[in-house]
Amino acid sequence: MSTPILHAEHIEKWYGPTAALRDVSVSIDQGEIVAVTGPSGCGKSTLLHCLSGILAPQRGSVRFQGREIGTAGEAERSRLRRTVFGVLFQFGQVVPELTGIENVTLPLQLGGHSYRDAAVRAQALLDRLGVGDLAGKRPGEMSGGQQQRVALARALVTEPQVLFADEPTGALDSLAGEQVMVELVRLAREHGTTVLVVTHNAQVAAYADREITMRDGRVDNDGRNNSYGWGDSSGGRGDGDRRVVIRGEAR
Ligand SMILES: Nc1ncnc2c1ncn2[C@@H]1O[C@H](COP(=O)(O)OP(=O)(O)O)[C@@H](O)[C@H]1O
Ligand SMILES: [Mg+2]
Repeated sequence: MSTPILHAEHIEKWYGPTAALRDVSVSIDQGEIVAVTGPSGCGKSTLLHCLSGILAPQRGSVRFQGREIGTAGEAERSRLRRTVFGVLFQFGQVVPELTGIENVTLPLQLGGHSYRDAAVRAQALLDRLGVGDLAGKRPGEMSGGQQQRVALARALVTEPQVLFADEPTGALDSLAGEQVMVELVRLAREHGTTVLVVTHNAQVAAYADREITMRDGRVDNDGRNNSYGWGDSSGGRGDGDRRVVIRGEAR
């Protein structure tokens, strides 16, 4: 078996007396789209932050392509976040003073690209996401869904190996949220991007290859270990108890 792109083993994260993660182990393969679900406060964001090197767990190991990052220094972790990881949050955190295209060129320019080169790539991505005509507009003139597409373009413009998304559709109505999720999955599949997406929305989880359910700081259920659920064509709508996993094309 090939080395997983991300591998956490027995990680623990405490905030004072509160255990946010207790002995969590997960393994994610290259190109996999994984949804992390579970009730509020169960440790989803903390897991994402540990896997993306934003936080260092107190115990256990986190490896990216076989290399330990859990105990790596802040400089190395921030280099990874700039180069091979992309992040998308619930509120896209687009910069209000910048236009759509300037928001997307920003990470490329920080990485040393010229504005001209960056703008070509940024415009192409905005076009792919159906918001090419908003390149010259500021976020205040965009809907929430449009802002989140710009934020998605910004997260993907550096062609990260892993995209970490923490409730990326949580602030959108269900239609806008679904559209953003469809685009996210489509682009990730085209580029072979590995995706970890935290969501409380069963519909969003249905777009993933696999669902990891957490509870009280532990992995309650890891779809990888289940032998059921593959290939359900119903899309998993409204059936909260079944873990529906769809493999293959983004719809
Ligand atoms: N910075 C922090 N300081 C103290 N407690 C925190 C902090 N961040 C998270 N927690 C606690 O850790 C637990 C897990 O939080 P979190 O990972 O944010 O859960 P989720 O994303 O599933 O809602 C919760 O009990 C939360 O209150
Ligand atoms: Mg959270």
